[in-house]
Amino acid sequence: MPTVASLLRHAIAVVSRSDAQIRPTRPRRMLKCRPDTVGMTTQNHIYFDHAGTTPMDERVLEAMLPYFTRLYGNASSVHTVGQEARHALDVARERVAGVLNCRNREVVFTSGGTESDNAAIQGAAYALEQTGKHVIAAASEHHAVLHACEVLEDRGWRITRLPVDDYGLVDPRRVYDAITETTTVVSIMYANNEIGTINPIPEISAAVKQRAQELDRTIVMHTDAVQAAGFLDLDVRRLGVDMMSLSGHKFYGPKGVGVLFIRRGVPYLPLITGGGQERERRSGTENIAGIIGLAAALELAEAHRDEVSEHCRNLRDRIIHEIVSRIPNCVLNGHPTERLPNNVNFSFEGVEGEPILLGLDLQGIAASSGSACSSGSLEPSHVLLALGQTADLARGSLRITLGKQNTDAEVDRLLSVLVSLIDELRQLPTLSGAADD
Ligand SMILES: Cc1ncc(COP(=O)(O)O)c(C=O)c1O
Repeated sequence: MPTVASLLRHAIAVVSRSDAQIRPTRPRRMLKCRPDTVGMTTQNHIYFDHAGTTPMDERVLEAMLPYFTRLYGNASSVHTVGQEARHALDVARERVAGVLNCRNREVVFTSGGTESDNAAIQGAAYALEQTGKHVIAAASEHHAVLHACEVLEDRGWRITRLPVDDYGLVDPRRVYDAITETTTVVSIMYANNEIGTINPIPEISAAVKQRAQELDRTIVMHTDAVQAAGFLDLDVRRLGVDMMSLSGHKFYGPKGVGVLFIRRGVPYLPLITGGGQERERRSGTENIAGIIGLAAALELAEAHRDEVSEHCRNLRDRIIHEIVSRIPNCVLNGHPTERLPNNVNFSFEGVEGEPILLGLDLQGIAASSGSACSSGSLEPSHVLLALGQTADLARGSLRITLGKQNTDAEVDRLLSVLVSLIDELRQLPTLSGAADD
């Protein structure tokens, strides 16, 4: 039996080689898993990557199924087949609006969180171009927001990337101070996808509104609530936001479908034009099955929010307590209390994130790291860097995100594997040394 350390040595050698060295020698298609093995592999895993995606709820799938086959109409068609789809779409919109406490017509269905973020920021910025070209976003935002800002920057907008504190929190006062006479859009995420820190959105919205009034200008307040759904209050009136992004696959719904809430009267130019669906705000034939699934998943997530949050919080707190007491030289990333109930994120001194993930995966445990592997080198997470963490420490991060199906026994297994894995990795030669073996 190979030891974890020897398997890891091999794994590290593979990941640390250059792109050219790891290019597969066999044709690509041979590397693909056979469909029948995919489910088996997945089922055998303990899944701790719910911020990455969630398994779809069986009840959501049931609600969707008829819309792939029997009820296949196009909601824009005037005939009965089409009108059945239209009716289903209307009902789904009403259900989403119920959770968000907004008008039905303020709900726009999109292809997911990335599109919602892009559409919100660029759509509002273009609509308000004549009044100013300044956008504010937190430095810790998801790339769907940050890259949308970069596109605007390339086109002449000024972007303020707002610093966060050591826990990843955005200070409402800082938002207020950053607003100028040219600001048109402020985008601050509700909960961070890597470290789980929850921003005080009602206070931030109030600061934006107050400054907008003082300057007598329109400033659109957007929040990326993709990670908040299922754990936090999504009532847009209480949050005071003008726009809000959601993504179906983060709350046990389908992938490739999302929501953008656009408050009535908010200036907005659509990014996608064509047939004029979604009241001209997002053209394209509606993904009826996906939308039905999203609405069903959102209602379920809202109905079970308290119990799922409590379940995850108990597991989360146990993991944090055990890691801190059993693994020396580690840092909990994110806020100690203002964090999502399902998020655990640690940096481990002297260890990179990738080998930790590989080591866990070899033991059947799926987790995640903030580091992005690009061109064979590990880029430290921009979120951890925004917290002021050194690049070296930021490379050693591990994110564990819990879900409603995780159990105490799974947490026991994770802890026993992780404690010995970190110890073994710390005894290994450095990454470059290992690659030379
Ligand atoms: C905070 C946040 N925003 C946006 C996205 C993008 O969502 P989607 O995967 O639906 O494009 C994600 C996905 O991980 C996210 O975590």
